[in-house]
Parts: sequence; structure tokens; C-alpha cells
Amino acid sequence: SKGAALVTAVAQRLASRKRQVDETLAPFKLSQEQLQLVKATMRAGLEAGLKNKGPSAVKMLPSYVYHTPDGTERGKYLALDLGGTNFRAMLVKFKKGLQNNTRLYHKIYTVPLEIMQGTGEELFDHLAQYVSDFLDYMGMKKAHLPAGFTFSFPCEQTAIDTGILVSWTKGFKATDCEGHDVVNLLREAIKRRNEYDLDIVAVVNDTVGTMMSCAYEDPQCEVGLIAGTGSNACYMEELKNIEKIRQKKQKTEGDEETPEMCINTEWGGLGDDGSLDDIITPFDAEVDHNSVNSGKQRFEKLTSGMYLGEIVREVLLDLTRGGLLFRGRVTETLKTPGIFQTKYLSQIESDRLALLQVRSILQHLGLNSTCDDSIIVKEVCGAVSRRAAELCGAGMAAVVDKIRENRGLDHLNITVGVDGALYKLHPHFSGVLQETTRVLAPQCNVTFLPSEEGSGKGAALITAVARQKRDR
Ligand code: GLC
Repeated sequence: SKGAALVTAVAQRLASRKRQVDETLAPFKLSQEQLQLVKATMRAGLEAGLKNKGPSAVKMLPSYVYHTPDGTERGKYLALDLGGTNFRAMLVKFKKGLQNNTRLYHKIYTVPLEIMQGTGEELFDHLAQYVSDFLDYMGMKKAHLPAGFTFSFPCEQTAIDTGILVSWTKGFKATDCEGHDVVNLLREAIKRRNEYDLDIVAVVNDTVGTMMSCAYEDPQCEVGLIAGTGSNACYMEELKNIEKIRQKKQKTEGDEETPEMCINTEWGGLGDDGSLDDIITPFDAEVDHNSVNSGKQRFEKLTSGMYLGEIVREVLLDLTRGGLLFRGRVTETLKTPGIFQTKYLSQIESDRLALLQVRSILQHLGLNSTCDDSIIVKEVCGAVSRRAAELCGAGMAAVVDKIRENRGLDHLNITVGVDGALYKLHPHFSGVLQETTRVLAPQCNVTFLPSEEGSGKGAALITAVARQKRDR
């Protein structure tokens, strides 16, 4: 009958549409072998970066942090934090007595895009102004506090309080900062204001701050991970393996058996030498091409919040052009970079949402969808975020296995301090990350500990330790 023929035709059309969507998403589905290969590539990247042989894709930057905290840290510190789109100023107080007796006051400032991408002087003048506002707010303009500066970009350090910016990442591109000591840039901006004094004692990557703040609660925490706007990890490495600083500094910390230092891996740069080309899809290539740092941070561009939405958008564009989505209509909205922020991905992928609600999120973004469309969009988001979590897991497996081998152990128990919106807010990211790490590093028992106060508290702890040393 006519009716039956129609039903068959519709079913066939749906099946073929599904097949085409599956084909498009296939390159995002990584096999176990591929993930093992990524783990091995990361391991090779870590080793190469520790060598003294000039620039490497994984930078492996010494942090001059030698210990995780021991709980004796005391006093009042200012923590300043420039990472993604926000600047945070915090006052952190560590009290005598019980551990965990920390108090924290903070204020968040949004750094406008034109400042992120203007001149360096303007950027640091802005930061100095935010600090001024915060000190007013706390009534502490006269206090002359010791400060820790969490600066979440790759810095070449020669001491705890100097950090030369290697290159901006995550969409920042303020001029005249690369190649300069960011602590000096901030000190000079504060001097230009001539209004308050600050003693900047430490400059700290957010991964290191996160590890430290988690280690304050859990001494087994010797790794830090950020899965947010950017993607990066740090871990405690044996000083004797860090060729870069071996000549300069080996025995100074003297008394322990195996002196260590925390290394900021900057693993986001993995693949910048082409080593990930086999898994990079045309959609990733397009996202990289449209970014402000094309060719750089290739691993970060597969794994972090700043880029996942853009990858999704590229896939949706392709599916729409192929007539598989949005009735084949490529709208201006769909062509707009940045419409899919991480928080929307998190919402779209939430299992508690009915498809109707997915449709209303898409509607809110200016995309008119049918019910089938919203199923496909959800699938695309799922494929992209699952791959991101798996790749992070492969990277983490490489890190924890390296620590295990350093120590000559068959089995390692270790805690990873984590922060970042992708980890904390995405419905599936953390689960997939943990599962992948477990499968790829079966000899390690890895506990992921979300950081409570973020990297600011860690920066304050590092400041506390650095100042104790200096004042001794
Ligand atoms: C980028 C930065 C790195 C930071 C990470 C997370 O990868 O280069 O320093 O730790 O983002 O914020």
C-alpha cells in the first residue's frame, strides 16, 4: 500500500541520515590502540622536554616549588590570579592549629577582550587597578602584603619569583609581554600607580597552585590537572631527571633522599611538532586555523573548553552543508565563532534533559531545530567531549606511570588535584577521564580530588613557604 511505502521511505531516509552522521563522527572515536599511542606520545614528550636540548613541544617548565605543603604555613597573603577570562584577587589567611583552617575573601574581575588583546602595559595597568579596588574593598591599602601571582600561561622560571612569558595561549595576545618577566611587568604597573605596595614573592602556574591546594588536604597529591578553558598538568619530578636545571641546582635542597621539583608540563603543546597528526580531524584543523595561535597548542585544542564548542560548530556546519541538519540551512548564527560555550555543551549533554529542552537551548542560541536535529547535535557534542576526556586520560596515564617508574614501584597510589569547568561542570568528562586513566595506567591507583579553593590558595601556600625561606 501507499502508506507502507511511505513509512519505508521515511525509515530508509532516517537510516541513511544516521549512517552519514556516524561516518562524520567516526574520526572522533579513538580505539584503545590509538589511545595507547597517545599515551606513548605524551610520555616521549615529557622525556624530551626534560632534556636540555632547546625548545620542545611539551615545554616541561621548572616551577621552583620543591615540596608540597606540610601544614605549618601561617599568615595572611594576597593571591592574584590571571587565567582565562577572569582576574581574581584573594586574601588568604592560614591560622595556627588544625589544618584546613583557611579563610578566604575574594573578588572576581572580568578582563575585557580588548584588554586581553591590547598592549601589555594596558593589561598590567588593568590588573594593578583591580588589585587597588580589592585592597580598598578589604580596607587594606596600607598593609604591604606578601603576594602570590597565579599566572596561567607558560613561563620560563629561573627562581620562584621570576617568570618569563614564553608565549600567550587561550586567546590572549597582549603585545610586549612575550619574552618579558611577568612579575616585573606587574611590579612596574603597581609602581606607575604609586598608590600601594605589594611584595610579589612567587609566580605560579594554575596547575601548580591546584596541586598545592589539594596537597594541603591530601599528602598523596603530587599531580595537578586543569581541564577548563585550557588543558595542562604538573607533577613532582625528581631533580636528577631535570637536565635543564641539573647543572645549576642539585644539592641546595640537600637533606632529603630524593630531591624533587614540581614541573609544569604545558602538555597542551603536545603535537605542535606534528606528532598528533594521525588523530587530528579536518574539523580540528579548521579550529586551529581560525585561532589566534594557529599551529600551537594542538593537544589543548582537542581537549579544552575554549575549543570544544568550536569543534562542535565545525561539525554542525559540515552536517548542515550536507543537508543532514537544520534542513540544510546554514544560518549566520551557525557561522558565528564562540556560540557554543562549554556551559551549553554541558547542558546539552546532561542526561536529565529531555530532547525538548535541548531544542530550547539550541533555540536560545538562535538555532531552530527539529527533534531529530537535537538528537544529532547531542551526539556531536558527546563525540567531541568524550574524545577530549579520553585524550586527557591518556595524558594523565603517561604522567602517573612516569612517577611510578621514577620510584621503581610495581604499584602506585596517587592523588591528582583537579580544577576547571570542564572537569567540574560537564556531566560526563570526569567519569570518562577517570575510566581512561584507569585502563591505560593499570598499575596506578589514581584518585581525582577536585580543588576547593582553586589555585589561589595554592599560590598563597607557595608564597608562605617562599617567604619563610627568604626570612630565615
Ligand atoms: C594553558 C596555559 C597553561 C595553563 C592551562 C590551564 O594551557 O598555557 O599554562 O595551565 O592553560 O589554564
